Amino acid sequence: MDTMKGQVALVTGANSGIGLETAAGLAGLGATTVLACRNAAKAAAAVDQVRARTGNDHLHTVALDLADLASVRGCAEELLGRFDRLDVLVNNAGGIWSSRRTTAQGFEQTFGVNHLGPFFLTRLLARRLVSSAPSRVVNVSSFGHHFAVAGMRFEDLQTRWGYVGLEVYGRSKLANILFARQLSRHLAARGVTANAAHPGPVRSGFGMDGDLGGVSGWGNRVVRHFEISAGAGARTSIFLASSPEVEGRSGGYWVRCRPGHMSRQARSESQSARLWQASEELLAGAGFPAPPLP
Ligand SMILES: NC(=O)c1ccc[n+]([C@@H]2O[C@H](COP(=O)([O-])OP(=O)(O)OC[C@H]3O[C@@H](n4cnc5c(N)ncnc54)[C@H](OP(=O)(O)O)[C@@H]3O)[C@@H](O)[C@H]2O)c1
Repeated sequence: MDTMKGQVALVTGANSGIGLETAAGLAGLGATTVLACRNAAKAAAAVDQVRARTGNDHLHTVALDLADLASVRGCAEELLGRFDRLDVLVNNAGGIWSSRRTTAQGFEQTFGVNHLGPFFLTRLLARRLVSSAPSRVVNVSSFGHHFAVAGMRFEDLQTRWGYVGLEVYGRSKLANILFARQLSRHLAARGVTANAAHPGPVRSGFGMDGDLGGVSGWGNRVVRHFEISAGAGARTSIFLASSPEVEGRSGGYWVRCRPGHMSRQARSESQSARLWQASEELLAGAGFPAPPLP
């Protein structure tokens, strides 16, 4: 089945877990697949694996560290220089950290890696997505967005006080949905759809590299045994990126390839708009202004 032949798909965090399976799924459909990863050796190993599994030779890597906006900009520039179209962008990379860390530009890491980096990357690539329309953006969010019961903490987006890993993660995953919905409002009419996905509880590298300590880390190790495979977790991302069933559908939150239940906060238009503006201001303040939308 080469239903994506001729299309170019970019998957972030494609060297492991859900991202690797998403890249394999899209490559299996014939897409020219670009694996955006922060570690070149891991990216090369992932390409070898995807090639062996799919027989697709149109596989490429680009360097991307979402914790450094200069790297995000470099990734976008490289992609725009090497490929003349972009049909699919899967913002998959992400993480959870039990203690507060900061990115190269001083943003709190969970917010920076899970939201601000992907926001910047998407904005840098928006013009190419529009010129390749119909095209699709998929933000890998999580059921964990429900943990953000009070919504985004706009007065303290960098969580300078009261850092609790799960809560901060929940807000970043809420941001993934709010961003997808606001992007949809801006670009759906131009043929670019934007949706968010919850992959399910997936047995991946998530929270397993010592980043998640204490009770959360212990709990994560226990529940792993009951979780689904990364391949099963990637299905909704692949579905949103490729299926004719969702052609033209935008602004949704999807679970197991079906519309899912998003929180009241995730449905808030005012939070979406405010996050969009705040993200633009943070980027501009850091010296990495987002280009205007086409
Ligand atoms: N696993 C679950 O149960 C679950 C549930 C809901 C949502 N999700 C979401 O699914 C997505 C994928 O997670 P996963 O479960 O597949 O976990 P994973 O196996 O740990 O994969 C995470 C990927 O993100 C990459 N990454 C982390 N920090 C990065 C950075 N600064 N720059 C670029 N890439 C970075 C990792 O690269 P390295 O290999 O170099 O670290 C890795 O490729 C995440 O957004 C997560 O929030 C997961």
